[in-house]
Amino acid sequence: MSESLATVSYIGATILFILSLGGLSSPATSRRGNLYGMIGMALAVLATVIGPRVTPAGIGWIIGAMAVGGSIGVIAARTVQMTQMPELVALMHSLVGLAACLVGFASYIDPGSSLGLTSAEKAIHEVEVYLGILIGAVTLSGSLIAFGKLSGKIGGKPLMLPGRHMLNLVGLLVVIYFGKVFMDAHSMSGGLVALGVMTAIALLFGIHMVMAIGGADMPVVVSMLNSYSGWAAAATGFMLNNDLLIVTGALVGSSGAILSYIMCQAMNRNFISVIAGGFGGGAPVKVDAGATAQPVGEVVPVNAQETAELLREAKSVIIVPGYGMAVAQAQHTVYEITKHLREKGVNVRFGIHPVAGRMPGHMNVLLAEARVPYDIVMEMDEINEDFPETDVTMVIGANDIVNPSAQDDPNSPIAGMPVLEVWKAKTSIVMKRSMASGYAGVDNPLFYKENNRMLFGDAKKMLDEVLVALKS
Ligand code: TAP
Repeated sequence: MSESLATVSYIGATILFILSLGGLSSPATSRRGNLYGMIGMALAVLATVIGPRVTPAGIGWIIGAMAVGGSIGVIAARTVQMTQMPELVALMHSLVGLAACLVGFASYIDPGSSLGLTSAEKAIHEVEVYLGILIGAVTLSGSLIAFGKLSGKIGGKPLMLPGRHMLNLVGLLVVIYFGKVFMDAHSMSGGLVALGVMTAIALLFGIHMVMAIGGADMPVVVSMLNSYSGWAAAATGFMLNNDLLIVTGALVGSSGAILSYIMCQAMNRNFISVIAGGFGGGAPVKVDAGATAQPVGEVVPVNAQETAELLREAKSVIIVPGYGMAVAQAQHTVYEITKHLREKGVNVRFGIHPVAGRMPGHMNVLLAEARVPYDIVMEMDEINEDFPETDVTMVIGANDIVNPSAQDDPNSPIAGMPVLEVWKAKTSIVMKRSMASGYAGVDNPLFYKENNRMLFGDAKKMLDEVLVALKS
């Protein structure tokens, strides 16, 4: 393939990636968005593999690597459960970071990469290498810790080292100092020592940054690492002189940054303090069990028959799904119940919290898979005012996102986080297996409210029973 044809293919792939992002902005167009992305990526890989920069000897290596990577991808896609997707995504972000580090070191060691460069061009190349490895290393270790936290292998509580902001600042100053040492190095070994020290500090910084963030704040970290992985890819593009990788990395980096901003707003957090790697002015992060208010009141359990009765008598119902619906894979029964109620003239809508589940858009994906119509799936801001006029709210495997202590208890670890005000409906029904707390590990006073009922059991099993009772 000629240089110009490869360039045209790259431009085509770039346009397809932008169309893909546009498509993913709404559930109705997301399938098309995915398709554009897949075609764009196929075009990009093809134009690179058969492009002018790959020698015939290199093609064998590339095909071998693609076969190994592709097989791992197929196995992962077939075996990983939907509930494990967030941790898989975190693991994949870590691979982008690792790739940026490896490319950085290879590009510095390879004598060919700076052959024929002027001293100014060589300096720019070295800055690219230094920054590329820096971003890559932070992404690598931060994503591995996020993987550990999301999969429950590492505890969710924030790790608060004494003087942690000072530690970060000292780390930054050392990184800047070794950046100068690296640029001034007269030998490769001198440069490698500086790179090695900086990589170690960046890895420690990534670990520290994510370890310091706990419980309900994890969504912001997940989307932030998504953004970092984009910048790591863009840095790799600079090191390899690959325009498409630069553009694609920048698209991922900036869209991830926008998503982080939206997440911060949803969680009522300060964007700048998140970017700096710690939550400053937000909610208190130290969980002190004694200081938080203990729920008062009585828990009233109901069975599937009674739940069906309440639904049958209702004129308006709002369903609030959460992580438990994903675990139980109850979305198809939820759809059947929705269909049945709508046929009986009940106004059924869904209230989606921005951080429900374990990844952005988690609930929307599940409901779309079950063919729930998009026009009855509302965002939190669109539906929160409607709860007082609602007869029944059905909370399916959700907990933190409907916790009133976010509003009522300033000492709660989730204080200040906007929540779906389900308790304002005439009756709320919470479906879960026990009285256990949610991801943030906080007690939920909703369960003890006078107008609340608890339907204990696995969401899928209980909803199946409710459906049978509704139809009988
Ligand atoms: P959670 O607060 O985690 O609550 C889920 C509830 O589902 C649990 O209390 C659990 O109670 C119940 N459950 C689990 N399996 C169930 C099953 N088979 N059947 C019925 N219920 C089941 O979930 P949420 O309300 O969706 O809130 C999300 C939380 O995750 C927030 O704290 C958020 O910050 C955090 N988070 C979100 C993301 C993103 S990007 N969305 C990423 C990381 C973390 P039982 O054990 O009693 O059944």
